Amino acid sequence: MIKSHLCSAALSLAGLVLGVSLMVTAASAKPPKPAPKASSATIAAGKKVYDSNACSACHAVNGAGGTSAPDLSKEGANPKHTEAWFEDAVLHPTKVKPGSKMPPYDGKINAKDIKTLAAYLGSLKGSAKPGGKM
Ligand code: HEC
Repeated sequence: MIKSHLCSAALSLAGLVLGVSLMVTAASAKPPKPAPKASSATIAAGKKVYDSNACSACHAVNGAGGTSAPDLSKEGANPKHTEAWFEDAVLHPTKVKPGSKMPPYDGKINAKDIKTLAAYLGSLKGSAKPGGKM
């Protein structure tokens, strides 16, 4: 009796350990994918806009950049951060955050560039290195 109880306890423990390790393996084996909506070319173009506007003077992405502003490595992971939200956040920061200390980029980034920039920011989900090497 006691023996069979121990045995089933050991079995379920083994099952638990196996299940957890399978889950961990599945999570870490996930291939780095860009956001499904934007093509990798769009994201790469957006990263160029990010670089040429010196956003990294204040913001960091994946460990590279300034520390005076919020880290943007996981910007795209928040479902509220739509393309329109990013456009506002960059062109009119006070629209998304009253009293924002970020300088507005309205008039400095054109209509086409702000779209690719938004796609780039949306692709930042804290996992891979979207848009190529940092
Ligand atoms: C002079 C420093 C500075 C520069 C340059 C700058 N930002 Fe910011 N940014 C900030 C600060 C500070 C905040 C946080 C706003 C606050 O809380 O006052 C912010 C907020 C943001 C946010 C919102 C973050 C969130 O989740 O709330 C985004 C997105 C963003 N910046 C993108 C950019 C992009 C893209 C560029 C380049 C075009 C850029 N920033 C350039 C300082 C800067």
